Amino acid sequence: MSRIHEALKKAELERATHGGPEDHVIEQPMPSGMSARMVGSVNADGPLTFEALQARTARVQWNPNLNTMLFFAGSDQAMGKEELRTLRSRLYQMRERKPLKKILITSALPQEGKSFVSANLAQVLVQQRGRRALLIDADMRGPRLHQAFGTAVQPGLAEYLMGEQDEFGVIQQGTMENLFLIPGGRPVTNAPELVSNGRLKNLMARLEPLFDWIIVDSPPAALVSDASVLANFCDGVLMVVRSSVTPSEAARKARMEFTPDQLLGVVLNGIDPKLDSYARAYYPAYGQPEAELKKS
Ligand SMILES: Nc1ncnc2c1ncn2[C@@H]1O[C@H](COP(=O)(O)OP(=O)(O)O)[C@@H](O)[C@H]1O
Ligand SMILES: [Mg+2]
Repeated sequence: MSRIHEALKKAELERATHGGPEDHVIEQPMPSGMSARMVGSVNADGPLTFEALQARTARVQWNPNLNTMLFFAGSDQAMGKEELRTLRSRLYQMRERKPLKKILITSALPQEGKSFVSANLAQVLVQQRGRRALLIDADMRGPRLHQAFGTAVQPGLAEYLMGEQDEFGVIQQGTMENLFLIPGGRPVTNAPELVSNGRLKNLMARLEPLFDWIIVDSPPAALVSDASVLANFCDGVLMVVRSSVTPSEAARKARMEFTPDQLLGVVLNGIDPKLDSYARAYYPAYGQPEAELKKS
């Protein structure tokens, strides 16, 4: 027998009696009786506690734009705050009638105030003691929320959905207590495929028990299908309409993307208080746009 043949024979005999290197890992029992692979998956998929989330996510120094982020210390923008409190009350009233935690914010077109409403709604929700909110920038084609918060765009949702990061790698805890942010990540073109690949469902399932509210910002519903796909992961949809700007045909088209049970209502954004007698009576000093909830 040649030396090579002898070596092959020996290796074959060893594999038969002890198993190959990979089998060895799988068959090796852990002290608890679980295999190494099982322990890994229990850690990855087991329930997450809020304390673990706080301990493992990055604390980030946000530098918010105080002109549009209404509830951060230093912001002197009183305008719109009362309307956001009203919106919060309406959401709590709706929650008495149906389970409501994950809210998608959308509108027909760009620049109508989706991100403005999402960011300020998340802020007003955590103004109530002990309430926790997670804000997700799911406008992955053109993420912007990070700009309002003055923080990095990535790692964010795109990196999570592509499997490059786990939840701890993408959630930021910044400078407002109980408010957490997942920025959009690097811009992508295949957003609907990413959203449907199973990882968003998993992310929501893991994070939902830890938060009172999850607010999901989205791209324009009349232009791309992302928002209607995202709505399937949420409990309801708020449609932003920009006063005197959104064409009614575009608003109607956006509305058709959602079922009647998904639609919670319309947020009328950018009302000119000078043209609105109610606003003029209560906010005589304010001449800029504000957000208001109108029942759908
Ligand atoms: N009610 C508002 N008051 C002041 N600025 C607003 C208001 N709504 C939107 N904006 C500003 O208008 C711009 C577009 O709003 P944004 O929320 O980014 O729109 P969208 O997310 O729908 O594209 C942003 O600069 C935002 O800060
Ligand atoms: Mg936006």
